[in-house]
Amino acid sequence: MTERRGLFISFEGTEGSGKTTQMLLLVDRLRGLGYTVVENQEPGATRIGNQIRRILLDPAHEEMAPMTELLLMFASRAQAAAEIIQPALRRGAIVVSDRFTDSSLAYQGAARHLGFETVLEAHRLALDSLFPDLTICLTLDIEFALARAHRRNQRACSDISETRLDRQSLEFHRRVEEGYRRISTLEPERVRLIDGHGQPGDVSKRIWEQICPLLPPVPLRQ
Ligand code: TYD
Repeated sequence: MTERRGLFISFEGTEGSGKTTQMLLLVDRLRGLGYTVVENQEPGATRIGNQIRRILLDPAHEEMAPMTELLLMFASRAQAAAEIIQPALRRGAIVVSDRFTDSSLAYQGAARHLGFETVLEAHRLALDSLFPDLTICLTLDIEFALARAHRRNQRACSDISETRLDRQSLEFHRRVEEGYRRISTLEPERVRLIDGHGQPGDVSKRIWEQICPLLPPVPLRQ
């Protein structure tokens, strides 16, 4: 599908796991070293993706069927791949994505019980063989993580501060966590579980150790 030259890294984890903070720290560090970094966020990232995101996260859409949810996630992802990810990889950039297909495996495949095979079938249809080179999956005590996400949502001033997916039960989020563990067992080379406890600086050191070996030589500054 793509003639790839860049590096594709994704961040995964349950709500409140600290992945967005860690992703931003990594992006800053890479840019500071002189790399061209392109960010992606799912669902969303593109004009079309952001409209899909609104439908997906609206708390009023309680009746959304799991398959609808899955296909909308992949519709947003296919658009992000075409508009953002593939062109950036072709240019040789480092793409850092806040969530990617592993989120669909964990949330729709495991937590919504659609199964990994169904999710992977949707992936093949929408994205062919596009997978990250490395996936950082942050793990944190689930009750602690959800309490943190809840505090963050209460501080947010957006129209939808607690999304439809944030409102799922503790049991749902435990299945998400279990889904991530299964993915890392199936693909230990690509998916690295990183302990998210501790100060952000300590967590970012653990992440950097995983990423460093994959980085291409730092480009010469102009
Ligand atoms: P968001 O507000 O971006 O949350 P977070 O900061 O946790 O990423 O909302 C995205 C929500 O969508 C989040 O609850 C995870 C969920 N999601 C899925 O269920 N499947 C997916 O494929 C993706 C990308 C996200």
